[in-house]
Amino acid sequence: MLILGIESSCDETAASVAEDCRRIRSSVISTQIEEHKKYGGVVPEIASRRHCENILGVTKKALDDAGATLADLDGIAVTYAPGLIGALLVGVNFAKGLAMASGKPLIPVHHIAGHIATNYLSHPKLEPPYLCLVASGGHSHIIEVLSYTKFRVVGRTHDDAAGECFDKCARAMGFPYPGGVHVDAAAQKGDPTAFKLPHPAVAGSEFDFSFSGLKTAVINMLHHADQKGETIDRNDLSASLQQTISQILTDKTVRAAEALGYKKIALAGGVSANSGVRAALSEACERRGYEFFMPEKSLCGDNGAMIACQGSYNFLAGITADESLNAVATLSMDQI
Ligand code: KG4
Ligand code: ZN
Repeated sequence: MLILGIESSCDETAASVAEDCRRIRSSVISTQIEEHKKYGGVVPEIASRRHCENILGVTKKALDDAGATLADLDGIAVTYAPGLIGALLVGVNFAKGLAMASGKPLIPVHHIAGHIATNYLSHPKLEPPYLCLVASGGHSHIIEVLSYTKFRVVGRTHDDAAGECFDKCARAMGFPYPGGVHVDAAAQKGDPTAFKLPHPAVAGSEFDFSFSGLKTAVINMLHHADQKGETIDRNDLSASLQQTISQILTDKTVRAAEALGYKKIALAGGVSANSGVRAALSEACERRGYEFFMPEKSLCGDNGAMIACQGSYNFLAGITADESLNAVATLSMDQI
């Protein structure tokens, strides 16, 4: 079984061909980061225009690298939600055109389900059920992965996502966009106990997150220091921020696992590349005797392979779309 996966939900245009779900025959990613860097964040209209320019070339290369043609495919999978609407629409419409031209089934994939699937690529033996922490630029979720295609959200952020907190604090510290990776590098050289940062309390579900108070605390600290003509050590602040975010994500995930009886835990999403988060969750799982899975670093950010893999599982479960498939900017995993 060969499935083409297409991803265009944010600032990466990506395509990949997966064979029998987990064997990645090709993976092509065209990133727009350099262009959005100038503006300190993703400019949605620019993102849509670049997807429009790049999607055909990226897809052609993914097919060529895989040694496949449209005729060889069993289906065409595409990210339809959630994400920047104009960006998603480029991928969805392109995939529809390919499906129509080739007569192959169109397979809708939820972006977060795609991130979760990166663990199947990195760990050939991993199978549901398990509990997954998904932390990215737009999402922070604790998700019960009940099967390859059935999910239940047990924790979510009430405001900012963990990646957004990394990026906004990084920006205030003067790091370029996207800042998470720069905070990670600076944190290696800093003292994580240098600053005591807040662990915000969240009303409602005990497994929900809130990162806006932490973000505001860091930004205020930098502004106050600036006003007084003082400088704050970026390495120390990065290390303290990274440790705080890692502890918040790890504590809630482990508590959810205990409450729900999971002994198999996974990590996914762009923030899963963070060395502090990887170490904190893996150590917490080891202490409790839980099995722990995380994707290799090259699969943490947005890519086509995760859509091709999840698309394959959706296809096997009979999840396909007709010609009315639309892009959806916001869609909870509970609704798919
Ligand atoms: O999953 P992703 O590529 O896009 C979304 O679906 O949002 O995640 C991007 C996020 C950004 O916030 C980026 O700063 C963060 O992942 N990120 C990191 C690291 N690498 C990427 N955050 C902290 N440390 C990293 N090493
Ligand atoms: Zn993503």
